[in-house]
Amino acid sequence: MIMMVKENLAMINPNDLTRPDCAVISLKEVTRDYSGHAGKVCALNAASFSIVAGEWVAITGPSGSGKSTLVNMIGCLDRPTQGALMIDGVDVASMSATDLDRFRADKIGFIFQQFHLIPYLSALENVMLAQYFHSMTDEKEARAALERVGLGNRADHLPSELSGGEQQRVCVARALINNPPILLADEPTGNLDEANQKIVAGLLKDLHAQGHTIVMVTHDPEMASLAQRRIALSHGKVFCHPVGGAIVPIR
Ligand SMILES: Nc1ncnc2c1ncn2[C@@H]1O[C@H](COP(=O)(O)OP(=O)(O)OP(=O)(O)O)[C@@H](O)[C@H]1O
Ligand SMILES: [Mg+2]
Repeated sequence: MIMMVKENLAMINPNDLTRPDCAVISLKEVTRDYSGHAGKVCALNAASFSIVAGEWVAITGPSGSGKSTLVNMIGCLDRPTQGALMIDGVDVASMSATDLDRFRADKIGFIFQQFHLIPYLSALENVMLAQYFHSMTDEKEARAALERVGLGNRADHLPSELSGGEQQRVCVARALINNPPILLADEPTGNLDEANQKIVAGLLKDLHAQGHTIVMVTHDPEMASLAQRRIALSHGKVFCHPVGGAIVPIR
């Protein structure tokens, strides 16, 4: 797997911004409009780009530029108003809600800035809940995932009994428990102090080295610099940063 990923990355031509042949995520003219009582907002405007398997991409841009909208769509939590979105070779727009739930559980792990842990479940139970939605629970595996993020001795704590950094590490354990090929992180270190940011960055580095594709929204230049490529957003428009190159508009 890792060899295959390395070959894919070696094949990236910095001038070739779309690699549909080996893309694990591919957007073509993807638009997301929101219609509210205040009128229509075009949160994402005809975005077209690809991400190859094993890439680590940082999504950057000012507040309100459409980063979470983009990541929610890649994570199949939301659907485009227009355009085509392919994840791992599947056109997700054509899937039923039930198939999409299954697909998401198999393919995607989420790490959110606000953690979204269930407050009345322990760290261990929060991780086991992700197993339950995927297939079946396995306490030993869930404990091992918590150990992997350095929380073996906090497994029975409730989220309110954990520090912010520890809660975020539970989220990482929850995201990786079903071994999804794609990890989506929306401001994974946004609520963390420097020490915990380093720990979470280290975990993401490990997961990337193991071959996971990582798409990470971040405001932090240091975190963004860990990624191989930057996709910048401005007012819903996408600009791409091929490895070693300048940022160029996609449309
Ligand atoms: N449900 C909604 N209804 C109407 N407008 C929305 C909705 N959700 C988001 N928006 C608008 O879409 C735009 C993009 O929002 P989004 O949350 O993607 O921004 P963001 O780049 O993630 O910002 P931040 O860095 O503050 O998290 C914003 O202008 C926002 O006001
Ligand atoms: Mg956001």
